[in-house]
Amino acid sequence: MVSLGPGDIDLITVKALEALKNSDAICVPTKSDDHSFKKSMTYKIIKQLMEKHNFDKPIVAVYSPMHFKKEDWQSQVNIIQNTLQTNHIVSFVTLGDAAVYSTVYYLLNIIKQQDKRLYDNSEVIAGITSFSNASARVKKPLCVGDSGFSVVPLLGYDVDNTTVYMRPKIGMDTNIIDQKGDIYTFEDLNYKNEKISSYKISKTNRYMSLFIDFFKF
Ligand SMILES: C[S@@+](CC[C@H](N)C(=O)[O-])C[C@H]1O[C@@H](n2cnc3c(N)ncnc32)[C@H](O)[C@@H]1O
Repeated sequence: MVSLGPGDIDLITVKALEALKNSDAICVPTKSDDHSFKKSMTYKIIKQLMEKHNFDKPIVAVYSPMHFKKEDWQSQVNIIQNTLQTNHIVSFVTLGDAAVYSTVYYLLNIIKQQDKRLYDNSEVIAGITSFSNASARVKKPLCVGDSGFSVVPLLGYDVDNTTVYMRPKIGMDTNIIDQKGDIYTFEDLNYKNEKISSYKISKTNRYMSLFIDFFKF
């Protein structure tokens, strides 16, 4: 599951680019029911990346109508699984970051239920979000000092929220975090002493700690 970043091909991560280069096939979503890529922004990005970085991979159309229907996600999973019949490594691509309003986790949920081995062998590669990019473009921070920031879907009603807690004081009691969903603790992520716990640690030991209280999915 490869996050492509916000549409500027130079804002893809090196890891995502390597994943595409190492893929035997790339599954690309399209909203066109004729499975063409006439309206697919994602397809344009993949073609531009292949041209700029001198690689060429078979592209498989994945019809993604965005109707939020289980049967649509199921047929997208079927396409990925069919592609895996004849290809060893298959990427499915998504704009921005897979963690933010992407189809990726609907598909992974189905894969987890019906093919545990594939789920365990799958990887999600993080990307730059549209709002990180937007912030950079106007040179305005999303948060500094004592401010926070929210991502709110424009639906007009209250929704479940994921909350990210950052910048703890060392030794602080985490009782002040009012857990609502599934909370994880991430310490020294990507560093030597990395630790990921599927719970809230009771006291913070390291400055490089963050907590994510994931909405229940
Ligand atoms: C389905 S969400 C995908 C978000 C994406 N995964 C991300 O990390 O930003 C699509 C929404 O992201 C925002 N978005 C994505 N790309 C954008 C762009 N190039 N310009 C402005 N907004 C964008 C818009 O609010 C759009 O409705």
